[in-house]
Amino acid sequence: MNLLKIQNLKNQAISSIIEAKDKDELEEIRVNYLGRKGEITQLIKELPSLEVDERKEVGILVNEIKQIIQNSIEEQLAKISHQSIEKKEKSIDVTAPGKKPKFGHLHVISQATQEITNIFEKIGFTLVNYPEVEWDWYAFEGLNMPPDHPARDEWETFFIKNLKNKKYGQAVLTPHTSSGQLREMKVSKPPIRMLNIAKCYRRQSDTSHAPMFYQFETLVIDKGINITHLKGTLDYFVKNYFGKDRETRIRPFHFQFTEPSFEVDITCLVCGGKGCKVCKEGWMEIGGAGMVHPKVLENGGIDSKKYTGFASGFGLERVLMMKYGIDDIRLLFGNNFKFLNQF
Ligand code: PHE
Repeated sequence: MNLLKIQNLKNQAISSIIEAKDKDELEEIRVNYLGRKGEITQLIKELPSLEVDERKEVGILVNEIKQIIQNSIEEQLAKISHQSIEKKEKSIDVTAPGKKPKFGHLHVISQATQEITNIFEKIGFTLVNYPEVEWDWYAFEGLNMPPDHPARDEWETFFIKNLKNKKYGQAVLTPHTSSGQLREMKVSKPPIRMLNIAKCYRRQSDTSHAPMFYQFETLVIDKGINITHLKGTLDYFVKNYFGKDRETRIRPFHFQFTEPSFEVDITCLVCGGKGCKVCKEGWMEIGGAGMVHPKVLENGGIDSKKYTGFASGFGLERVLMMKYGIDDIRLLFGNNFKFLNQF
């Protein structure tokens, strides 16, 4: 076997390795020399047919060359990948202005909570915070709804099994913020101007109801409080939240814990009160209200002969959806950034 030819083969291999510009080219070279049918592999296969002495000499040389080619391929590979990193680094423009990190913002429900709080704080209301897991007595019985009273049905309540208080009954997830009325009466003395914004829970789910939602409740108790104070406060809120053209009306209704009781309507945001497909007669309902029932005042430890009061309770998502024209409450609790980033 011609040793010079073998040396030439090595030189050829090395020079093509050094010239190779990418991984694929190097792989091709490797296959050509060291692959199953590669030139070096062929030589190794031919070794057994050589004379003993020649076999030894050629064998050592061929194996050396095989090692050299392998090492050169690896070196070149390392060089190529290093060069590509350098190239990438060169393409970074260090003089370019930095990218501003994206800041998050408050969720639209938190924004509404702040907005509503600001409106009521201006006329002396104080924001309070009471338990989300509440006793039956505060949610129902103390609000003039004894056990088994059919009026309770409306609140589609989640009861908590195995959690009961001797005096205050079963534990419930607050189905409305009105439980805060009794809590407030028990801890503070008139004059009271309470704003209670809290999570509420009911067994319901459709485009306008979610099992967890927010309500905001007002409670005012003092000497001589009457319906005009209630109506004036509602007007003030509606004009400040929805716009000064909005009118308010109260309509007779029934709640166990207020007497008299009302539902509160505002002039339609779409037609302005003329009557359209959305509102039918020009009015849209936004919540309930009324004069606090004397029994409820007494339950809260307040002398109903001396003091009177009014209360109102609205769905926070409801007013927010009306303001922005949102037609599905579930959008507010989804995590769709396209939706949320609009606010
Ligand atoms: N709590 C009532 C509801 O959830 C609303 C309401 C609050 C009514 C205060 C009257 C007074 O429907």
